Amino acid sequence: MSRVFSGIQPTGNLHLGNYLGAIRNWVTMQDAYEAIFCVVDLHAITVPQDPAVLRRGIREMTAALLASGLDPARCILFQQSQVRVHAELAWVLSCSARMGWLGRMTQFKEKSGKDREGASVGLFTYPVLQAADILAYKATHVPVGDDQKQHLELARDIAQKFNTDYGVDLFPLPEPVIQGPATRIMSLRDGSAKMSKSDPSDAARINMTDDADAIAQKIKRARTDDDALPSEPAGLAGRPEAANLVAIMAALENVSVADVLTRHGGQGFGQFKPALADVMVAVLAPITARFTELCKDTAYLDTVLAGGAVRARAIAEPVLAQVHRAIGFTS
Ligand code: TYM
Repeated sequence: MSRVFSGIQPTGNLHLGNYLGAIRNWVTMQDAYEAIFCVVDLHAITVPQDPAVLRRGIREMTAALLASGLDPARCILFQQSQVRVHAELAWVLSCSARMGWLGRMTQFKEKSGKDREGASVGLFTYPVLQAADILAYKATHVPVGDDQKQHLELARDIAQKFNTDYGVDLFPLPEPVIQGPATRIMSLRDGSAKMSKSDPSDAARINMTDDADAIAQKIKRARTDDDALPSEPAGLAGRPEAANLVAIMAALENVSVADVLTRHGGQGFGQFKPALADVMVAVLAPITARFTELCKDTAYLDTVLAGGAVRARAIAEPVLAQVHRAIGFTS
């Protein structure tokens, strides 16, 4: 049986990179698969969080996911800390994972920066918790953006090691699903950095809460070169900012990069940017409107998460029981 699992941190706003790289695929996959999506608050505390801001962030991320098209009638949507199996399985899996594997994770190196000794242990073991998220549901497919590729390879290694260590065939090896023209959306200010919630410059990203004026301004100010757009994808080589804007257009319109260039090749950015902003506003405005409405109804958001947690536990707890038997905790 095919089962999808994915997660998102409830820190900061949902941005265009999250939406085009991952969430849109989640929305499509909820019909073709049994789909489980998680607001990963346990992951969020690997770096300091203000409790009141985190509490609000969990509800806002839930609202943003619902506004983007997740439907609790067609998928399970829940909050990670409400299902204790995640933390417990993470401990078990941390005994199968190897220090050397975790030491090679580029995201830990980036996030811990120069102060490696001062980073939390949780930031180091973060990918083990991510593996537990996936394996607690025996998920077979994991839709993510390109930046999660290494973490998913690790999840496969951990699943394999556990199976081998205990001579069982308990965990399927999860397949990353990294698809579409927008698996890695870059910052609007720097074509070599990924668009991210943690970028100190708000102008670097499009938030799903930005209104039409903010979107138009950010696209207008987006860094580009001075050349016109090429008429074929090969002409984007060595032009990361141009390639990024074209990829965003392709993803928003659900067409290929080649299609975008057939229509816009030869145009300068003075012409292309307003066209891009228009398409972006048309896609995002309905989502923003739904998001604003949903945020007012915290009782509904809490009900969705509580219902999702009950359904998630019903799948994850029997898996943990199998793990306990495999290890010898129970017979
Ligand atoms: P997070 O919260 O950083 O991002 C959520 C999803 O958005 C994707 N993404 C992007 N895609 C394209 N371009 C970008 N600029 C961009 N920025 C973010 C991410 O790849 C991700 O799919 N560790 C994960 C959360 C997680 C998880 C899991 C994912 C926890 N457990 C289990 C899958 C399975 C994270 O921090 O995602």
